[in-house]
Amino acid sequence: MNIVTSPEQMQATALALRRAGQPIGLVPTMGFLHAGHLSLVKLARQAVPPSASPTGKSTVVLSIFVNPIQFGPNEDFNQYPRNFDRDCRLCEQEGVDIIFHPSVESMCLQDPAVFVEETALSKGLCGCLRPGHFRGVLTVVAKFFNLIQPQVAVFGEKDAQQVRLIQQMVRDLNFPIRIIFGPIVREPDGLAMSSRNTYLSTAERRDALCLVQSLQLARSLYRQGERDAGKIISAMTQKIRDIPSAAIDYIEVVDDATLQPVQTLNGAVLIALAVRIGKTRLIDNLMLPDDHLCQIPD
Ligand code: PAJ
Repeated sequence: MNIVTSPEQMQATALALRRAGQPIGLVPTMGFLHAGHLSLVKLARQAVPPSASPTGKSTVVLSIFVNPIQFGPNEDFNQYPRNFDRDCRLCEQEGVDIIFHPSVESMCLQDPAVFVEETALSKGLCGCLRPGHFRGVLTVVAKFFNLIQPQVAVFGEKDAQQVRLIQQMVRDLNFPIRIIFGPIVREPDGLAMSSRNTYLSTAERRDALCLVQSLQLARSLYRQGERDAGKIISAMTQKIRDIPSAAIDYIEVVDDATLQPVQTLNGAVLIALAVRIGKTRLIDNLMLPDDHLCQIPD
């Protein structure tokens, strides 16, 4: 496994691999890796199988970069958990070929003047309460696409709005890249894995289950025939309000493609929520009627 820190070297390596006909699969992350991230590495390898390449080889690149421009001024950029040595061990075990780990300075992000901004899907859900967040995500992901030259890039359904925005960016800006969605990987009790779970105290870790439990409740109401988004949202709200450490940022039922709120659950919808448990902001979601990517236990 190689560790590359220089963007110029990453791009030169990627262009040489492409010239040699060797496909590249990319998994972008902010590090502090968990089984959710590693599941995306498996999907990347399956999407660029060595056997299908003319050279008999393929390359999986995992980037680790805590991206300053996707954090708001009062958010947790400085506290965000980092453990590069542990991440390297996990990547080695998972068969990653290259870790791309640039510094903030080398990525020219101290004072950027050019951004990628999406103007529709990014407005609701997390975009409302985190202005500038998705502009920061799309800008850095576009830079990674140019530096790493992947044929395939893999993102988790855990960040449902993010993956839809990236698909939109790839379409609108004609990146020759296939975007793959990976299912949400959960702890055995159902909590969606997140690097931020490490912030939770023992009591908060227990309280954090209210996110998945409210989605379980939504799914069981849906299975009983409930189609009124308002009723589903009120039931979820009530469940979360029972937990004193929990504060709701949003609970929304949106159309899966447009991310616009719906009143009635017809067709493919996404139920998404963001809840603060103490100081830790967590997100989770459920797609209906096809919920296989959400992996919510019964
Ligand atoms: P990060 O939060 O580190 O997540 C990296 C990738 O892992 C994202 O595609 C995310 O959706 C996925 N992921 C996180 N938790 C997951 C889980 N429990 N199950 C499955 N996949 C999971 O998302 C980012 O970083 C950044 O915004 C990034 C795209 C790297 C741009 O900076």
